[in-house]
Amino acid sequence: MKQLITTPIYYVNDVPHIGHAYTTIIADMLKKHKWLRGDEVFLLTGTDEHGQKIEQAAKAKGKPPKAYTDEVSAVFRSLWDMMGIDYDHFIRTTDESHKQTIVQVFERLCANGDVYLGEYEGDYCVSCESFFLNVDSGICPDCAGSKPLSKIKEESYFFALSKYEKRLLEWYASSEDVILPKYRKNEVVRFVESGLQDLSISRTSFEWGIALPKHKGAQKQHIAYVWLDALFNYMSAFGLYQNPESLQVDSSSPAHLGEKMAYWECATHIVGKDILRFHAVYWPAFLMSLGLPLPKHIYAHGWWMRDGQKMSKSLGNVVDPRAFTKAYGAEVLRYYLLRETPFGQDGDFSQKLLCERINSELANDLGNLLHRFLAMCAKYAPQKGINSFTLENQGVAEFVVEHYGDEVKTQCKILDEINSGLIESMQIKAYIEAIWKLLHLGNAMIAKYEPWNLFKNGKSVELNAILNFVGYTLLKVANALYPIMPQTASTIAMAFGQGITPASYIYHIKQNKMFHLPLEVRVIPPLFQKLDSMLIPEAPLESTFEKVDSSDCGKEAGLALVSIEDFSKLDIRVGEVLEAEPVPKSSKLLRLKIDLGESEPRVVLSGIAQYYTPKQLISTQVCVIANLKPAKIMGQFSYGMILASKDDESLSLVRIDGKRKNGSRIS
Ligand code: MSP
Repeated sequence: MKQLITTPIYYVNDVPHIGHAYTTIIADMLKKHKWLRGDEVFLLTGTDEHGQKIEQAAKAKGKPPKAYTDEVSAVFRSLWDMMGIDYDHFIRTTDESHKQTIVQVFERLCANGDVYLGEYEGDYCVSCESFFLNVDSGICPDCAGSKPLSKIKEESYFFALSKYEKRLLEWYASSEDVILPKYRKNEVVRFVESGLQDLSISRTSFEWGIALPKHKGAQKQHIAYVWLDALFNYMSAFGLYQNPESLQVDSSSPAHLGEKMAYWECATHIVGKDILRFHAVYWPAFLMSLGLPLPKHIYAHGWWMRDGQKMSKSLGNVVDPRAFTKAYGAEVLRYYLLRETPFGQDGDFSQKLLCERINSELANDLGNLLHRFLAMCAKYAPQKGINSFTLENQGVAEFVVEHYGDEVKTQCKILDEINSGLIESMQIKAYIEAIWKLLHLGNAMIAKYEPWNLFKNGKSVELNAILNFVGYTLLKVANALYPIMPQTASTIAMAFGQGITPASYIYHIKQNKMFHLPLEVRVIPPLFQKLDSMLIPEAPLESTFEKVDSSDCGKEAGLALVSIEDFSKLDIRVGEVLEAEPVPKSSKLLRLKIDLGESEPRVVLSGIAQYYTPKQLISTQVCVIANLKPAKIMGQFSYGMILASKDDESLSLVRIDGKRKNGSRIS
């Protein structure tokens, strides 16, 4: 069956980070899994290059938008190549063909009576490119409460989204797995049930976007709203709506869209939880208006955080997938990201944990089993060539069933689990854990039956049976592991002179067969090296902060004089405390979230708990050293220090004499 899998198209306002890599890895994993199960899969990815955010980013770099987007788009593409992502098409919204699709989509939405001219007056978040009404705080409710909203009032075309409320609700109810995880689907249902407003689908106050034809008395030149532009990449990538004549065709039948429709009719969109609303509400409503088939699945994953914080450049805590791929290899990164957190939930990226997984699961459970097995073949297999050995299969099946019945049963149970649709239901972590059960079984077989003793005691039939059992188990592991770690899986299969193909997958996984052919085994180098330390230096974790103690605050010291240049290296800013809470197991520390006028609040730990309650701090302004190196205190990171003065009696925070804008510098 033909299937389409898509990643979101990535904004080019910045280079890729680990979140982008995660979405793309999931899509590539799904493609490989479906390919093994016999589907013909088309993987689409690309870059989202229009809109206010990109226009501003290009301006900040002093570059014309197209030159800027060319550069950053190429960085995304080269990362996917470096990571071995098997995409079939890389679309850019600045492609001429994509622009044609958008113009035609707009014409058709108008022709269907779903577009009207009006004026949008309300808030806009440039960061997530969304419209908001009635937000009193002036802060985007979707961007983790940290991005400012801009007031806009401009002529705009509106799409009659509210008309589709009922049909959308029917669609969500039509199938169990149209949106996964289920709790995300419930959020979408609640959002739609609470009532949909018509959606502004054009902007007139800036230029970087796709120009729309003038309709219905428009006074201004409109450009497509960036989400209308972006979502239809899923269509333009297939050349759909690029021929002006196709406008004449009856749009109630999508047959005119050609053969490629077959992929399109079975589309799975992989998205992050933050962009689910656009995919699960706006996108299907547009498709309903155009009379086109709806996606089959929308899978929303969670977010990767760093030390419990959202990643952001200003905090210097962004995980760079290029650096990790270079240091550890794409395979290890895939394994870690897919294995670490259940699909849908947020995860905390930790290089330390990644190293622990390499050592215990990859080098030990997997690599070590393969190499013990190869070493035993080299020692005990009766038929030997140079570095290659044959394990006879005569009578092995019967012998194994008779003597190792418990292990056979366990293996069948694990295979049932692997075949139980775990990937289809996006239980990727559970799927990987099931593969590891096979490895534990193989390792347990060796520990229990001690092949070296069987050899010593001349029990060649038993020995051959055990080696066959472990060898076939490794082949099962390789076939099941392929979507997760394609290179590693292929290398394991290669040690048996085999490849990984839909046919091998049917044999080893779907049909769970064994011992059909004699195993031809050859020695290969170790799969993974154990690591003594992390390969990428982390921001200094130890510092004087580590020993923070409020009693240090006012110590007299014979301090040397500093020049004005040295003083100016300190970035001291005014910020408002948004949240404050005690740090568990510490009587002195409070964990503060402070708005320094940055894209997100700073987490700062401060030893002031004995002098201030959280309530006394919230909504007040404090002075923060903003360019202090991050430090770890009681297992948590602090990204700055608040200023205070202490004498024998008590401690007081340094405050400014009158409210200033958050982020204002103190000099
Ligand atoms: N351009 C839009 C998508 C348009 S699709 C028609 C967009 N781009 S994005 O670059 O901001 O984000 C792309 C994807 O990266 C989203 O699915 C988002 O969830 C994901 N991630 C961005 N940061 C992330 C993490 N820190 N962790 C995991 N994924 C996150 O939205």
